Amino acid sequence: MSQPERQPNTAFSVRLESEVDFAGWRDAARRLVLNDVPPHDIVWQTGAEDDLFADSAPLPDIPSGRTLNVPREFIDRAEAVACHTDPSRFAFLYRVLFRLAREPELIKIASDPDIIRLHEMEKAVRRDTHKMRAFVRFVEIGEDDDKRYVAWFEPDHFILERNAAFFVRRFTGMRWTILTPKGTADWDGEALTIGPPASKADAPAADATEELWRTYFTNIFNPARLKVKAMQAEMPKKYWKNLPEAALIPDMIKGADRAAKEMIERMPTMPAPHHKKIQARYWTGKDEPTATEVPAASLAEAREQAKGCRRCPLWRDATQTVFGEGPEDARIVFVGEQPGDQEDIAGHPFVGPAGKVFDGVLAEAGVDRRITYVTNAVKHFKFEPRGKRRIHSKPNAGEFQACRWWVEQELGFIKPDLAVALGATAAQSLIGKAIPVTKMRGEVMTREDGLRVFITIHPSFILRIRERADAEAERERFVADMRKVKELMAA
Ligand code: URA
Repeated sequence: MSQPERQPNTAFSVRLESEVDFAGWRDAARRLVLNDVPPHDIVWQTGAEDDLFADSAPLPDIPSGRTLNVPREFIDRAEAVACHTDPSRFAFLYRVLFRLAREPELIKIASDPDIIRLHEMEKAVRRDTHKMRAFVRFVEIGEDDDKRYVAWFEPDHFILERNAAFFVRRFTGMRWTILTPKGTADWDGEALTIGPPASKADAPAADATEELWRTYFTNIFNPARLKVKAMQAEMPKKYWKNLPEAALIPDMIKGADRAAKEMIERMPTMPAPHHKKIQARYWTGKDEPTATEVPAASLAEAREQAKGCRRCPLWRDATQTVFGEGPEDARIVFVGEQPGDQEDIAGHPFVGPAGKVFDGVLAEAGVDRRITYVTNAVKHFKFEPRGKRRIHSKPNAGEFQACRWWVEQELGFIKPDLAVALGATAAQSLIGKAIPVTKMRGEVMTREDGLRVFITIHPSFILRIRERADAEAERERFVADMRKVKELMAA
Protein backbone atom coordinates (compact mmCIF):
# COMPACT_ATOMS: atom_id res chain seq x y z
CA MET A 1 0.00 0.00 0.00
CA SER A 2 1.41 3.42 -0.87
CA GLN A 3 2.17 5.69 2.05
CA PRO A 4 0.68 9.18 2.09
CA GLU A 5 3.59 11.57 2.24
CA ARG A 6 3.55 13.33 5.58
CA GLN A 7 4.31 17.02 5.40
CA PRO A 8 6.14 18.56 8.35
CA ASN A 9 3.67 20.10 10.85
CA THR A 10 0.69 18.45 9.23
CA ALA A 11 -2.13 18.54 11.72
CA PHE A 12 -3.65 15.13 12.00
CA SER A 13 -7.10 15.08 13.39
CA VAL A 14 -8.28 11.85 14.91
CA ARG A 15 -11.99 11.50 15.53
CA LEU A 16 -12.77 8.70 17.95
CA GLU A 17 -16.17 7.10 17.77
CA SER A 18 -17.13 7.66 21.38
CA GLU A 19 -15.83 9.09 24.64
CA VAL A 20 -14.37 5.69 25.46
CA ASP A 21 -13.19 4.53 22.06
CA PHE A 22 -9.95 3.08 23.31
CA ALA A 23 -9.64 0.66 20.38
CA GLY A 24 -9.90 3.61 17.96
CA TRP A 25 -7.27 5.54 19.89
CA ARG A 26 -4.98 2.54 19.99
CA ASP A 27 -5.15 1.94 16.28
CA ALA A 28 -4.59 5.61 15.39
CA ALA A 29 -1.87 6.06 17.99
CA ARG A 30 0.06 3.06 16.67
CA ARG A 31 0.04 4.40 13.13
CA LEU A 32 1.06 7.86 14.23
CA VAL A 33 3.83 6.78 16.60
CA LEU A 34 5.32 4.45 14.01
CA ASN A 35 5.40 7.38 11.63
CA ASP A 36 7.13 9.49 14.29
CA VAL A 37 4.32 12.04 14.36
CA PRO A 38 4.99 14.24 17.38
CA PRO A 39 2.16 14.81 19.87
CA HIS A 40 1.74 18.47 19.01
CA ASP A 41 0.87 17.57 15.41
CA ILE A 42 -2.29 15.73 16.39
CA VAL A 43 -5.71 16.85 17.50
CA TRP A 44 -7.78 14.18 19.27
CA GLN A 45 -11.54 14.53 19.19
CA THR A 46 -14.33 12.36 20.46
CA GLY A 47 -17.68 11.63 18.82
CA ALA A 48 -19.64 14.34 20.52
CA GLU A 49 -17.42 17.29 19.61
CA ASP A 50 -17.55 19.50 16.50
CA ASP A 51 -15.07 18.47 13.87
CA LEU A 52 -12.43 21.17 13.99
CA PHE A 53 -10.20 19.63 11.38
CA ALA A 54 -12.53 18.08 8.85
CA ASP A 55 -9.94 18.35 6.12
CA SER A 56 -6.91 17.11 8.03
CA ALA A 57 -4.56 14.55 6.48
CA PRO A 58 -5.68 10.90 6.55
CA LEU A 59 -3.92 8.74 9.05
CA PRO A 60 -0.68 7.25 7.76
CA ASP A 61 -0.23 3.49 7.36
CA ILE A 62 2.31 1.66 9.46
CA PRO A 63 5.63 1.68 7.63
CA SER A 64 6.52 -1.87 6.65
CA GLY A 65 8.93 -3.57 8.98
CA ARG A 66 8.25 -1.20 11.88
CA THR A 67 6.73 -2.59 15.03
CA LEU A 68 5.83 -1.05 18.33
CA ASN A 69 6.47 -2.76 21.62
CA VAL A 70 4.86 -1.18 24.61
CA PRO A 71 4.64 -2.70 28.07
CA ARG A 72 1.35 -4.46 28.82
CA GLU A 73 1.21 -2.37 31.98
CA PHE A 74 0.90 0.78 29.90
CA ILE A 75 -1.96 -0.64 27.83
CA ASP A 76 -3.89 -1.66 30.95
CA ARG A 77 -3.42 1.70 32.56
CA ALA A 78 -4.17 3.59 29.36
CA GLU A 79 -7.42 1.68 28.97
CA ALA A 80 -8.54 2.95 32.37
CA VAL A 81 -7.27 6.49 31.76
CA ALA A 82 -9.26 6.61 28.50
CA CYS A 83 -12.40 6.64 30.68
CA HIS A 84 -11.34 9.79 32.53
CA THR A 85 -13.37 12.91 31.81
CA ASP A 86 -10.28 15.05 31.24
CA PRO A 87 -10.78 16.26 27.63
CA SER A 88 -7.04 16.05 26.99
CA ARG A 89 -6.78 12.38 28.02
CA PHE A 90 -6.26 10.95 24.53
CA ALA A 91 -3.65 13.58 23.68
CA PHE A 92 -1.96 12.89 26.99
CA LEU A 93 -1.95 9.13 26.40
CA TYR A 94 -0.43 9.70 23.00
CA ARG A 95 2.32 11.83 24.53
CA VAL A 96 3.18 9.04 26.95
CA LEU A 97 3.12 6.47 24.16
CA PHE A 98 5.35 8.66 22.00
CA ARG A 99 7.83 8.94 24.84
CA LEU A 100 7.62 5.21 25.58
CA ALA A 101 8.62 4.43 22.03
CA ARG A 102 11.83 6.36 22.74
CA GLU A 103 12.28 5.72 26.47
CA PRO A 104 11.28 2.05 27.02
CA GLU A 105 11.90 2.30 30.79
CA LEU A 106 9.68 5.34 31.21
CA ILE A 107 6.78 3.46 32.78
CA LYS A 108 9.06 2.47 35.68
CA ILE A 109 10.07 6.05 36.49
CA ALA A 110 7.57 6.79 39.25
CA SER A 111 8.81 10.38 39.66
CA ASP A 112 8.27 11.35 36.03
CA PRO A 113 5.46 13.96 35.86
CA ASP A 114 3.70 12.10 33.03
CA ILE A 115 3.82 8.82 34.93
CA ILE A 116 2.56 10.54 38.06
CA ARG A 117 -0.35 11.98 36.07
CA LEU A 118 -1.03 8.63 34.44
CA HIS A 119 -1.19 7.05 37.85
CA GLU A 120 -3.48 9.74 39.30
CA MET A 121 -5.92 9.56 36.42
CA GLU A 122 -6.00 5.78 36.52
CA LYS A 123 -6.63 5.89 40.26
CA ALA A 124 -9.54 8.30 39.83
CA VAL A 125 -11.17 6.03 37.26
CA ARG A 126 -10.67 2.90 39.34
CA ARG A 127 -12.11 4.61 42.40
CA ASP A 128 -15.15 5.72 40.44
CA THR A 129 -15.56 2.19 39.09
CA HIS A 130 -15.49 0.80 42.59
CA LYS A 131 -18.04 3.38 43.79
CA MET A 132 -20.42 2.48 41.03
CA ARG A 133 -20.22 -1.19 41.96
CA ALA A 134 -20.89 -0.36 45.57
CA PHE A 135 -23.60 2.26 45.22
CA VAL A 136 -25.80 1.34 42.29
CA ARG A 137 -29.28 0.59 43.66
CA PHE A 138 -31.94 -0.95 41.50
CA VAL A 139 -35.61 -0.07 41.76
CA GLU A 140 -38.07 -2.68 40.62
CA ILE A 141 -40.58 -1.66 37.95
CA GLY A 142 -43.29 -3.55 36.05
CA GLU A 143 -44.81 -6.87 36.95
CA ASP A 144 -44.46 -10.52 36.02
CA ASP A 145 -42.95 -10.80 32.54
CA ASP A 146 -42.44 -7.05 32.35
CA LYS A 147 -40.55 -6.89 35.57
CA ARG A 148 -37.20 -5.14 35.34
CA TYR A 149 -34.83 -3.17 37.49
CA VAL A 150 -33.70 0.36 36.92
CA ALA A 151 -30.96 2.31 38.65
CA TRP A 152 -29.81 5.89 38.51
CA PHE A 153 -26.12 6.63 39.10
CA GLU A 154 -23.92 9.69 38.61
CA PRO A 155 -20.36 8.65 37.83
CA ASP A 156 -17.52 11.17 37.67
CA HIS A 157 -15.93 9.48 34.67
CA PHE A 158 -16.93 7.54 31.58
CA ILE A 159 -16.97 4.24 33.38
CA LEU A 160 -20.37 2.90 32.43
CA GLU A 161 -19.27 0.73 29.54
CA ARG A 162 -16.18 -0.49 31.30
CA ASN A 163 -18.27 -1.45 34.31
CA ALA A 164 -21.26 -2.92 32.49
CA ALA A 165 -19.71 -6.39 32.21
CA PHE A 166 -19.46 -6.50 35.98
CA PHE A 167 -23.21 -5.87 36.35
CA VAL A 168 -23.98 -8.43 33.66
CA ARG A 169 -22.01 -11.01 35.61
CA ARG A 170 -23.51 -9.97 38.92
CA PHE A 171 -27.14 -9.71 37.76
CA THR A 172 -27.23 -12.05 34.78
CA GLY A 173 -30.69 -13.37 35.57
CA MET A 174 -32.30 -9.94 35.91
CA ARG A 175 -33.36 -7.50 33.23
CA TRP A 176 -31.90 -4.19 34.22
CA THR A 177 -31.03 -0.69 33.04
CA ILE A 178 -28.52 1.65 34.56
CA LEU A 179 -29.19 5.28 33.72
CA THR A 180 -26.43 7.84 34.03
CA PRO A 181 -25.85 11.36 32.70
CA LYS A 182 -23.01 9.87 30.65
CA GLY A 183 -24.93 7.03 29.02
CA THR A 184 -27.22 4.09 29.65
CA ALA A 185 -26.50 0.40 29.96
CA ASP A 186 -29.34 -2.00 29.31
CA TRP A 187 -29.29 -5.76 29.84
CA ASP A 188 -32.28 -7.70 28.59
CA GLY A 189 -31.07 -11.01 29.95
CA GLU A 190 -29.18 -11.82 26.76
CA ALA A 191 -27.58 -8.73 25.26
CA LEU A 192 -26.04 -5.57 26.57
CA THR A 193 -26.82 -2.28 24.86
CA ILE A 194 -25.09 0.98 25.57
CA GLY A 195 -27.36 3.94 24.93
CA PRO A 196 -27.41 7.74 25.17
CA PRO A 197 -27.19 9.79 28.37
CA ALA A 198 -30.25 9.89 30.62
CA SER A 199 -31.57 12.32 33.18
CA LYS A 200 -32.66 11.63 36.71
CA ALA A 201 -36.27 12.25 35.65
CA ASP A 202 -36.03 9.04 33.58
CA ALA A 203 -35.40 7.03 36.73
CA PRO A 204 -38.35 5.59 38.64
CA ALA A 205 -39.07 6.75 42.18
CA ALA A 206 -38.37 4.79 45.34
CA ASP A 207 -40.21 1.52 45.86
CA ALA A 208 -40.36 -1.50 48.09
CA THR A 209 -36.93 -2.65 46.92
CA GLU A 210 -35.48 0.47 48.47
CA GLU A 211 -37.15 -0.40 51.74
CA LEU A 212 -35.41 -3.74 51.46
CA TRP A 213 -32.06 -2.06 50.98
CA ARG A 214 -32.70 0.11 53.98
CA THR A 215 -33.43 -2.89 56.16
CA TYR A 216 -30.40 -4.71 54.84
CA PHE A 217 -28.16 -1.72 55.39
CA THR A 218 -29.35 -1.13 58.95
CA ASN A 219 -28.66 -4.75 59.71
CA ILE A 220 -25.17 -4.81 58.30
CA PHE A 221 -24.25 -1.44 59.80
CA ASN A 222 -21.42 -1.98 62.23
CA PRO A 223 -21.49 0.86 64.74
CA ALA A 224 -18.26 -0.22 66.40
CA ARG A 225 -16.38 0.24 63.17
CA LEU A 226 -17.89 3.58 62.31
CA LYS A 227 -15.38 6.11 61.12
CA VAL A 228 -17.36 9.04 59.82
CA LYS A 229 -14.49 10.62 57.87
CA ALA A 230 -13.49 7.37 56.20
CA MET A 231 -17.12 6.69 55.42
CA GLN A 232 -17.55 10.05 53.76
CA ALA A 233 -14.40 9.55 51.76
CA GLU A 234 -15.61 6.16 50.64
CA MET A 235 -19.17 7.24 50.03
CA PRO A 236 -19.06 10.97 49.25
CA LYS A 237 -22.18 12.84 50.17
CA LYS A 238 -23.03 13.37 46.52
CA TYR A 239 -23.97 9.68 46.30
CA TRP A 240 -26.10 9.79 49.41
CA LYS A 241 -29.07 11.36 47.69
CA ASN A 242 -29.39 8.38 45.38
CA LEU A 243 -29.04 5.76 48.08
CA PRO A 244 -32.21 4.78 49.86
CA GLU A 245 -30.31 3.70 52.93
CA ALA A 246 -28.44 7.02 53.13
CA ALA A 247 -31.52 8.55 54.73
CA LEU A 248 -30.67 6.41 57.74
CA ILE A 249 -27.05 7.42 58.01
CA PRO A 250 -27.34 10.59 60.18
CA ASP A 251 -29.46 8.72 62.72
CA MET A 252 -27.22 5.72 62.69
CA ILE A 253 -24.17 7.88 63.25
CA LYS A 254 -25.89 9.54 66.20
CA GLY A 255 -26.82 6.19 67.68
CA ALA A 256 -23.50 4.61 66.92
CA ASP A 257 -21.93 5.03 70.31
CA ARG A 258 -24.78 3.40 72.13
CA ALA A 259 -25.23 0.81 69.39
CA ALA A 260 -21.51 -0.04 69.55
CA LYS A 261 -21.80 -0.76 73.25
CA GLU A 262 -24.79 -2.96 72.74
CA MET A 263 -23.02 -4.71 69.94
CA ILE A 264 -19.91 -5.34 71.97
CA GLU A 265 -22.05 -7.09 74.53
CA ARG A 266 -23.71 -9.18 71.89
CA MET A 267 -20.60 -9.74 69.90
CA PRO A 268 -18.87 -12.96 70.90
CA THR A 269 -18.36 -15.33 68.04
CA MET A 270 -18.14 -19.08 67.97
CA PRO A 271 -14.59 -20.40 68.28
CA ALA A 272 -12.33 -19.72 65.38
CA PRO A 273 -11.61 -22.70 63.10
CA HIS A 274 -8.31 -23.28 64.83
CA HIS A 275 -10.09 -23.83 68.17
CA LYS A 276 -10.03 -27.61 67.95
CA LYS A 277 -6.44 -27.65 66.84
CA ILE A 278 -5.26 -25.56 69.75
CA GLN A 279 -7.27 -27.65 72.17
CA ALA A 280 -5.87 -30.84 70.73
CA ARG A 281 -2.35 -29.61 71.38
CA TYR A 282 -3.03 -29.62 75.13
CA TRP A 283 -5.38 -32.54 75.26
CA THR A 284 -3.89 -35.26 77.41
CA GLY A 285 -6.16 -38.00 76.18
CA LYS A 286 -8.03 -38.31 79.48
CA ASP A 287 -11.27 -36.67 80.34
CA GLU A 288 -10.25 -36.74 83.99
CA PRO A 289 -8.76 -33.90 85.94
CA THR A 290 -5.00 -34.05 85.48
CA ALA A 291 -4.13 -31.08 87.63
CA THR A 292 -0.55 -31.02 88.73
CA GLU A 293 -0.44 -31.22 92.49
CA VAL A 294 3.14 -30.05 92.70
CA PRO A 295 3.63 -26.31 92.31
CA ALA A 296 5.81 -25.26 89.42
CA ALA A 297 9.45 -24.39 89.90
CA SER A 298 9.22 -21.19 87.90
CA LEU A 299 6.67 -18.88 86.34
CA ALA A 300 7.54 -20.26 82.91
CA GLU A 301 6.89 -23.78 84.15
CA ALA A 302 3.58 -22.73 85.69
CA ARG A 303 2.56 -21.22 82.37
CA GLU A 304 3.46 -24.47 80.60
CA GLN A 305 1.58 -26.61 83.11
CA ALA A 306 -1.49 -24.37 82.96
CA LYS A 307 -1.84 -25.14 79.27
CA GLY A 308 -3.01 -28.63 80.22
CA CYS A 309 -5.05 -27.54 83.24
CA ARG A 310 -8.08 -29.70 84.05
CA ARG A 311 -8.70 -28.37 87.54
CA CYS A 312 -12.25 -27.40 86.59
CA PRO A 313 -14.41 -28.25 83.57
CA LEU A 314 -14.00 -24.87 81.84
CA TRP A 315 -11.06 -26.11 79.73
CA ARG A 316 -13.41 -28.31 77.71
CA ASP A 317 -15.18 -25.56 75.82
CA ALA A 318 -12.51 -22.91 75.86
CA THR A 319 -10.03 -22.64 73.04
CA GLN A 320 -6.99 -22.45 75.26
CA THR A 321 -5.64 -21.39 78.65
CA VAL A 322 -5.03 -17.66 78.82
CA PHE A 323 -2.23 -17.25 81.32
CA GLY A 324 -0.97 -13.95 82.72
CA GLU A 325 1.49 -11.84 80.79
CA GLY A 326 4.12 -9.29 81.66
CA PRO A 327 7.62 -9.08 83.10
CA GLU A 328 8.45 -11.37 86.00
CA ASP A 329 9.85 -8.44 87.96
CA ALA A 330 6.67 -6.38 87.58
CA ARG A 331 5.91 -4.32 90.70
CA ILE A 332 2.21 -4.49 90.07
CA VAL A 333 -0.14 -7.29 89.07
CA PHE A 334 -3.58 -6.59 87.61
CA VAL A 335 -6.10 -9.37 88.04
CA GLY A 336 -9.23 -9.49 85.91
CA GLU A 337 -12.09 -11.95 85.96
CA GLN A 338 -11.60 -14.36 83.05
CA PRO A 339 -10.59 -14.15 79.40
CA GLY A 340 -13.35 -13.01 77.05
CA ASP A 341 -14.20 -14.19 73.57
CA GLN A 342 -11.30 -12.44 71.90
CA GLU A 343 -8.79 -13.32 74.58
CA ASP A 344 -9.80 -16.97 74.28
CA ILE A 345 -9.02 -16.94 70.59
CA ALA A 346 -5.89 -14.81 70.82
CA GLY A 347 -4.51 -16.54 73.92
CA HIS A 348 -3.63 -13.22 75.60
CA PRO A 349 -5.34 -11.41 78.48
CA PHE A 350 -7.20 -8.13 77.99
CA VAL A 351 -6.93 -7.75 74.25
CA GLY A 352 -10.66 -7.44 73.48
CA PRO A 353 -13.07 -4.54 74.07
CA ALA A 354 -12.51 -4.45 77.85
CA GLY A 355 -8.78 -4.60 77.17
CA LYS A 356 -9.05 -1.54 74.95
CA VAL A 357 -10.76 0.41 77.73
CA PHE A 358 -8.15 -0.83 80.17
CA ASP A 359 -5.28 0.22 77.91
CA GLY A 360 -6.79 3.66 77.30
CA VAL A 361 -7.34 4.30 81.00
CA LEU A 362 -3.86 3.11 81.96
CA ALA A 363 -2.32 5.35 79.32
CA GLU A 364 -4.31 8.33 80.57
CA ALA A 365 -3.25 7.67 84.13
CA GLY A 366 0.37 7.37 83.07
CA VAL A 367 0.73 3.68 83.93
CA ASP A 368 2.80 1.77 81.37
CA ARG A 369 1.08 -1.59 80.88
CA ARG A 370 4.32 -3.07 79.56
CA ILE A 371 5.95 -2.95 82.98
CA THR A 372 2.95 -4.53 84.72
CA TYR A 373 1.79 -8.13 84.86
CA VAL A 374 -1.79 -8.70 83.70
CA THR A 375 -3.70 -11.85 84.49
CA ASN A 376 -7.13 -13.22 85.35
CA ALA A 377 -8.72 -14.97 88.32
CA VAL A 378 -9.90 -17.69 85.91
CA LYS A 379 -7.75 -18.79 82.99
CA HIS A 380 -10.39 -20.27 80.68
CA PHE A 381 -13.23 -18.50 78.91
CA LYS A 382 -16.62 -19.48 80.33
CA PHE A 383 -19.52 -18.85 77.99
CA GLU A 384 -23.00 -19.84 76.93
CA PRO A 385 -23.39 -20.61 73.22
CA ARG A 386 -26.25 -18.58 71.74
CA GLY A 387 -26.66 -19.21 68.06
CA LYS A 388 -23.30 -18.45 66.58
CA ARG A 389 -22.29 -16.35 69.52
CA ARG A 390 -20.54 -17.12 72.76
CA ILE A 391 -21.98 -15.09 75.57
CA HIS A 392 -19.74 -14.42 78.56
CA SER A 393 -20.85 -16.28 81.65
CA LYS A 394 -19.65 -15.40 85.14
CA PRO A 395 -17.35 -18.00 86.68
CA ASN A 396 -18.66 -19.55 89.90
CA ALA A 397 -16.83 -19.85 93.19
CA GLY A 398 -15.69 -23.43 92.46
CA GLU A 399 -14.12 -22.31 89.21
CA PHE A 400 -12.15 -19.37 90.55
CA GLN A 401 -11.20 -21.36 93.66
CA ALA A 402 -9.74 -24.04 91.37
CA CYS A 403 -7.85 -21.39 89.43
CA ARG A 404 -6.34 -19.80 92.55
CA TRP A 405 -3.77 -22.55 92.15
CA TRP A 406 -2.37 -20.59 89.24
CA VAL A 407 -3.05 -17.06 90.45
CA GLU A 408 -1.21 -17.66 93.70
CA GLN A 409 1.73 -19.18 91.88
CA GLU A 410 1.87 -16.14 89.60
CA LEU A 411 1.88 -13.84 92.64
CA GLY A 412 4.41 -16.07 94.38
CA PHE A 413 6.94 -15.84 91.55
CA ILE A 414 6.41 -12.16 90.79
CA LYS A 415 6.15 -10.94 94.40
CA PRO A 416 4.58 -7.60 93.44
CA ASP A 417 4.26 -4.60 95.73
CA LEU A 418 0.63 -4.29 94.80
CA ALA A 419 -2.12 -6.39 93.25
CA VAL A 420 -5.10 -4.66 91.66
CA ALA A 421 -8.41 -6.52 91.75
CA LEU A 422 -10.43 -5.54 88.69
CA GLY A 423 -13.97 -6.35 89.80
CA ALA A 424 -15.66 -8.66 92.28
CA THR A 425 -14.39 -12.01 91.02
CA ALA A 426 -10.78 -10.88 91.14
CA ALA A 427 -11.29 -9.34 94.58
CA GLN A 428 -12.82 -12.53 95.95
CA SER A 429 -10.07 -14.63 94.42
CA LEU A 430 -7.35 -12.42 95.87
CA ILE A 431 -8.83 -11.77 99.31
CA GLY A 432 -10.50 -15.13 99.81
CA LYS A 433 -13.96 -13.76 100.59
CA ALA A 434 -16.67 -11.72 98.83
CA ILE A 435 -15.80 -8.01 98.70
CA PRO A 436 -18.44 -5.31 98.07
CA VAL A 437 -16.57 -3.59 95.26
CA THR A 438 -18.76 -0.48 95.04
CA LYS A 439 -18.22 0.19 98.71
CA MET A 440 -14.54 -0.78 98.84
CA ARG A 441 -13.54 0.76 95.55
CA GLY A 442 -10.33 2.78 95.80
CA GLU A 443 -9.37 1.08 99.08
CA VAL A 444 -6.30 -1.00 99.74
CA MET A 445 -6.76 -4.27 101.64
CA THR A 446 -3.80 -6.11 103.05
CA ARG A 447 -3.72 -9.89 102.96
CA GLU A 448 -2.29 -12.11 105.65
CA ASP A 449 0.82 -12.65 103.56
CA GLY A 450 1.32 -8.85 103.47
CA LEU A 451 0.29 -8.36 99.84
CA ARG A 452 -1.63 -5.11 99.36
CA VAL A 453 -4.69 -5.41 97.13
CA PHE A 454 -6.26 -2.34 95.55
CA ILE A 455 -9.96 -2.75 94.85
CA THR A 456 -11.58 -1.27 91.78
CA ILE A 457 -14.13 -2.01 89.08
CA HIS A 458 -13.74 -4.21 86.04
CA PRO A 459 -13.29 -2.17 82.82
CA SER A 460 -16.17 -4.00 81.12
CA PHE A 461 -18.46 -2.27 83.62
CA ILE A 462 -17.84 0.97 81.70
CA LEU A 463 -18.74 -0.73 78.43
CA ARG A 464 -22.09 -1.75 79.81
CA ILE A 465 -23.21 1.76 80.75
CA ARG A 466 -25.67 2.97 78.13
CA GLU A 467 -25.68 6.70 78.76
CA ARG A 468 -22.66 8.29 77.25
CA ALA A 469 -22.29 10.92 79.98
CA ASP A 470 -22.51 8.28 82.70
CA ALA A 471 -19.99 6.08 80.93
CA GLU A 472 -17.63 9.04 80.60
CA ALA A 473 -17.97 9.86 84.31
CA GLU A 474 -17.34 6.23 85.25
CA ARG A 475 -14.30 6.13 83.02
CA GLU A 476 -12.97 9.27 84.73
CA ARG A 477 -13.35 7.56 88.10
CA PHE A 478 -11.48 4.57 86.75
CA VAL A 479 -8.68 6.87 85.53
CA ALA A 480 -8.57 8.41 89.02
CA ASP A 481 -8.28 4.89 90.50
CA MET A 482 -5.39 4.10 88.20
CA ARG A 483 -3.66 7.33 89.21
CA LYS A 484 -3.89 6.16 92.81
CA VAL A 485 -2.45 2.82 91.73
CA LYS A 486 0.43 4.68 90.17
CA GLU A 487 1.08 6.56 93.42
CA LEU A 488 0.91 3.31 95.37
CA MET A 489 3.44 1.78 93.01
CA ALA A 490 5.86 4.58 93.75
CA ALA A 491 5.25 4.40 97.52
N1 URA B 1 -12.12 -9.51 80.95
C1 URA B 1 -11.25 -10.02 81.84
O1 URA B 1 -11.51 -10.07 83.02
N2 URA B 1 -10.11 -10.48 81.39
C2 URA B 1 -9.73 -10.44 80.13
O2 URA B 1 -8.64 -10.88 79.79
C3 URA B 1 -10.64 -9.88 79.23
C4 URA B 1 -11.83 -9.41 79.64
